[in-house]
Amino acid sequence: MSASSPVRPTLPVDILARKGGAPLVCLTAYTTPVARLADPHCDVVLVGDSLGMVLHGLLSTIGVTMEMMILHGKAVMRGITKAMPVIDMPFGSYEESPQQAFRNASRLMMETGMPAVKLEGGQHMAETIAFLTARGIPVMAHIGLTPQSVNTLGGYKVVGRADEAARVMADAEAVQAAGAFSVVLEKTPEGLSRRITQALTIPTIGIGAGVGCDGQILVIDDMLGLFTDFRPKFVKRYATLGQAASDAIADYASEVRARSFPAPEHTFPDELPPKGGKA
Ligand code: KIV
Repeated sequence: MSASSPVRPTLPVDILARKGGAPLVCLTAYTTPVARLADPHCDVVLVGDSLGMVLHGLLSTIGVTMEMMILHGKAVMRGITKAMPVIDMPFGSYEESPQQAFRNASRLMMETGMPAVKLEGGQHMAETIAFLTARGIPVMAHIGLTPQSVNTLGGYKVVGRADEAARVMADAEAVQAAGAFSVVLEKTPEGLSRRITQALTIPTIGIGAGVGCDGQILVIDDMLGLFTDFRPKFVKRYATLGQAASDAIADYASEVRARSFPAPEHTFPDELPPKGGKA
């Protein structure tokens, strides 16, 4: 893009065109200020249903509602100028039928302004993905470990070892054939992720899927060290903001108790200072 051409948000077709090119940088965000921080550095900013766990204290993503996604989706859209925003379809909003998925995906897009949705599932969601894409809804698929199915999977396990590998490969091929413009591979073994990436013509975005994917995604609260309830092996902490925040709150509490905060510079005097001074 030349210096004079305006910056425009990235679109699903741009992400598709990145297949096999420079790695796609993807992160989650849930609020306007964090979206503003992520936007200049990221190709994709996902409003993930992980927000249920990292912001709302839920034990899994199961309790996340359409209203929660819409609220955070709108907030993120206010912070994006160049990355591509994507929004997760929450559990229960799309599995019943392609028609239910269309109703809720179109609502997410219309109420938030997001240009694409993400949903979990492989072969069994292919009909729904085809239904949505044929009707103007770009879909990012999500296979391997699908956290909304934690209760049937029996935990947040690696998915795709031994006999499972063929099924995960078939899931990847099915979502591509259905029209998904990219696919998240979560917690799939490294070799399988690489084979899927080589077999597909759409970009793969890995989370715990090794370096061979077309891109990587992390939950922002995990990589900033803000969410510390548990830490999957695939999370690299790039900062320890949770600790920094806890230290800052402890300093504030002790200064309030010692009456050393607020200091004169945080206080409004009764008399106005002489002209030119600060009120
Ligand atoms: O909900 C989420 O944040 C996600 C990913 C990180 C892929 O689905």
